[in-house]
Amino acid sequence: MISIDKIKEEIAGAVSKNAEDLEAFRIRFISRKSVIGELFSKMKDVPAEERKKFGQQINEVKNLAQEKFKGLVSSLEKEETKIEAAPFDLTLPSAKGALGSRHPITITRNRIIEIFEKIGFNVSDGPEIEDDWHNFTALNFPPNHPAREMQDTFFIEKNPDIALRTHTSSVQIRVMENQQPPIRTLCPGRVFRNEAISARAHCIFHQVEGFYVNENVSFVDLKQTLFHFAKEMFGKDTKVRYRPSYFPFTEPSAEIDISCNICKGDGCNVCKYTGWVEIAGSGMIDPNVLENVGIDSEKYTGFAFGMGIERIAMLKWEINDLRLFTENDIRFLDQFKSF
Ligand code: PHE
Repeated sequence: MISIDKIKEEIAGAVSKNAEDLEAFRIRFISRKSVIGELFSKMKDVPAEERKKFGQQINEVKNLAQEKFKGLVSSLEKEETKIEAAPFDLTLPSAKGALGSRHPITITRNRIIEIFEKIGFNVSDGPEIEDDWHNFTALNFPPNHPAREMQDTFFIEKNPDIALRTHTSSVQIRVMENQQPPIRTLCPGRVFRNEAISARAHCIFHQVEGFYVNENVSFVDLKQTLFHFAKEMFGKDTKVRYRPSYFPFTEPSAEIDISCNICKGDGCNVCKYTGWVEIAGSGMIDPNVLENVGIDSEKYTGFAFGMGIERIAMLKWEINDLRLFTENDIRFLDQFKSF
């Protein structure tokens, strides 16, 4: 059996660097099966006259072990807090988080909305998957108009009545079916056309439709509204011109050009050396369209316009390839952090 002196020696020399050391100490000197516990169980074998003294000695070593254990626990705790605290200086400034930027299409859309909201337009929404009525028929498309054909429109195979909307003009119908004039609203959204992807065309792009229906709305209102928009968006020196055009749902119709924002009218490859770039289609809403949605075309007139958000963004920031908008190249997107 191990002697009391040996145990005292061991206790005095014990160190604990970690939780395992501490547990080993506890098992050896504190637990019921410890060497000290063993001494207690030997008590009955000790001759009666020595028993008292022996008992005192074991109690002494037991207290010694318990004191030592307490000491080991608290020094280990101190050690742990020291280790945890060491690698951090909480007073150091934190690492700068990398912030993303808004997508240029979002920035442009928000800016367009902001400009028109200031002159009384609100914002409406419609579905991207449309039926023939809202995308074509109600908009006065004749039954065999080429735009209905497969080369332009993504139809749903199982149901030729359903297609991905080819323009946001479908939202004109949705809004007018549910509201009576005066209506002055903007409809931004994604549109889809079956076109090969290139620097100048994409099968998915964005438009903003705008229209105003009320009594006595005239072409002057259309002209002045878009004139205001062009100046707000591209600067007050921007010139605007209206070219006669054709859309089934407007009569008369006009395409809207602005003086090229890139070469300021001198001629460059963006404006194809004409000094002008097209930004929107527009016109007075055809009375047939108003009648199709139950609005009295004798009483009310309206104008509508539709512009491509990508086109506006390209002109604003001199972006020369439409594909950049969908490639998500960080080097491109990072340039819009300040907007
Ligand atoms: N929907 C037409 C297009 O996508 C644009 C347009 C809208 C023209 C409203 C006139 C009026 O080309």
